[in-house]
Amino acid sequence: KPNDDQLIIDAGQKHFGAATCTSCGMVYSADNPEDNFQHNQFHQHFVESIKFVGWKKEHVVAEFWDGKILLIMPDDPKYATRKAEEVRRVADSELGFQQGSLSRPTQAKTFLFVSTERRVVGCLVAEHIRQAYRVLEQPDRQTDMTKDDFMERHRAWCCSTIPEPALCGISRIWVFSLARRRRVATRMLDTVRSTFMFGSHLTKDEIAFSDPTPDGKLFATKYCNT
Ligand code: ACO
Ligand code: ZN
Repeated sequence: KPNDDQLIIDAGQKHFGAATCTSCGMVYSADNPEDNFQHNQFHQHFVESIKFVGWKKEHVVAEFWDGKILLIMPDDPKYATRKAEEVRRVADSELGFQQGSLSRPTQAKTFLFVSTERRVVGCLVAEHIRQAYRVLEQPDRQTDMTKDDFMERHRAWCCSTIPEPALCGISRIWVFSLARRRRVATRMLDTVRSTFMFGSHLTKDEIAFSDPTPDGKLFATKYCNT
């Protein structure tokens, strides 16, 4: 592809020379050897992980002008479950989640948003649950936080101690950095609600987000109130 590895100069960056790789989304200084090394380490694996070659049998659950959503079940063919796992690992490492398998892998349904450029730009893992704890509203402390605080603020949200009934738990939701704010997450969730349980459409109250990140909370708040 012609624009693989092409760089966009990011004028908003603090460090002179910082650029965003258009293939993997990493922001780094091309003239810094250490940055270059880190980027090389990350780039190839990432690009390979989100590459989608097409499958013999695809369970397409939604189609859009800019892509489609596939559903992968635990007992699907190996090529499908392997890709789901590969993308989930990429998402997990970005989310700072422990690498490893899911708590109940036999129950998890994975939804992948595949772009028309044949890249997996969205991943959502949904599981059957019985109850969930509502995230409590907190005073907005976000404005004076930097990216370095990410790990700290990550899990700092308070949850209610009163369990409420829910049916579908979203244990992961991730969208490729260069594909965000284009309703990929919204469309994946809408699709989960209409396909998760056969013959019924889940309300926004019947889905719950586990352990949301700040991005996840902003998105979930918006999604659930609209
Ligand atoms: N800041 C503020 N508002 C946001 C943000 C954000 N970062 N992300 C979404 N929203 C709100 C906006 O109102 C947005 O509408 P708008 O763009 O018209 O203003 C609305 O939510 C819909 O957003 P989408 O475009 O559907 O969301 P997107 O496809 O960008 O995906 C997501 C959101 C999944 C949170 C993405 O930013 C991401 O992958 N972040 C990194 C990983 C992460 O933190 N995932 C959540 C973990 S929590 C969990 O897995 C249970
Ligand atoms: Zn790259």
